[in-house]
Amino acid sequence: MHISENIKYVGVSDKDLDLFEGQYRVPSGMSYNSYVILDEKIAVMDSVEASHGEEWLQNIESVLGGRTPHYLVVLHMEPDHSANIALFADRYPDAVIVSSQKAFVMMKNFFARDFSSRALTVGEGSTLSLGAHTLSFVAAPMVHWPEVLVAYESAERVLFSADAFGKFGAVDADEPWEDEARRYYIGIVGKYGAQVQSLLRKAAALDIAVIAPLHGPVLNKDIERYIALYGTWSSYRAEKQGTVIAYCSVYGGTRRAAEMLAAELASLGEEAVLFDLSRSDIAEAVAAAFKYSRLVLASVTYNADIFPFMRAFIQHLTERGYSNRTVAFVENGTWAPMAAKVMRGMLEGCKGLTFPEASVRISSAPSEANAAELKKLAEDLIRL
Ligand code: FEO
Repeated sequence: MHISENIKYVGVSDKDLDLFEGQYRVPSGMSYNSYVILDEKIAVMDSVEASHGEEWLQNIESVLGGRTPHYLVVLHMEPDHSANIALFADRYPDAVIVSSQKAFVMMKNFFARDFSSRALTVGEGSTLSLGAHTLSFVAAPMVHWPEVLVAYESAERVLFSADAFGKFGAVDADEPWEDEARRYYIGIVGKYGAQVQSLLRKAAALDIAVIAPLHGPVLNKDIERYIALYGTWSSYRAEKQGTVIAYCSVYGGTRRAAEMLAAELASLGEEAVLFDLSRSDIAEAVAAAFKYSRLVLASVTYNADIFPFMRAFIQHLTERGYSNRTVAFVENGTWAPMAAKVMRGMLEGCKGLTFPEASVRISSAPSEANAAELKKLAEDLIRL
């Protein structure tokens, strides 16, 4: 991946990884980005995931032209980026480790090693001159850990953005950026919208030509589009008008109701996206719920509660601050339906939700009366 004459990509990609952070499916792999800034002083920006240490060191060596790095800049201490700090420190014993105060505490805890004799602590407003290139550090707490810094290089106008603006997928994955960036953002950083907004306010003061994140491709055009998407996601606003119908069905009755509702919405010109929560990638369903303006939750009643996959789905939404949407319910129960009450109760703490007047209650299988109710629900959803 070419960045410039003096800023080189030295990251790695893992195309065999099944789950990132132990829960996110990554069918197109995962990249762990690292960069080298070549100047009078040489800075390496972050390390990579544990199993790629030697490959990373080789990538670094291949761009050094026989020189040695002066600095390892550590913007984020999560192990997908920090795991090879000690390996680097041993390979380059004269290199200084540059990071935040909180990160140095984490290094001690992670590696049982003290780098204090070769540590340079930086924070909001600190600068590091490499010659023609200068790094200015900006604190980005909780994007996505508390120690995080981002760094702006002013000569080439590059924002080293840590996890922000990252995505799932190997660095050469041929797929739309926003789909896997949204799933990554909502899943991993979604809870911290206020902190992302704070970072975006600071970024607005910078003239950014290139965003160099710790995951996914380097972004060197349409920068405003990426920043605008982050603005939408972090403010919990819908990105697109449309309805996600997330359902849990045991014997097909609830699924049929979900499909009938989707057909009614489609006949009204509304985009409707169905997710069978027992079979879908939950992170994809959650990201879709944040993308679209409306959500219908349809669940069987199960053990006097809701189906386990629906419970997990709603928990994923609420812990990420789901808000500012229209939400409707479809419940099914052969003898004591109560799913709608449970689902609505789980959303009680969410801000800015609008609910249609009635939910639809199915007894085992959708009846003719239910068909009329689903048609009305589609009309009500569109109106709200
Ligand atoms: Fe890619 Fe929060 O680590």
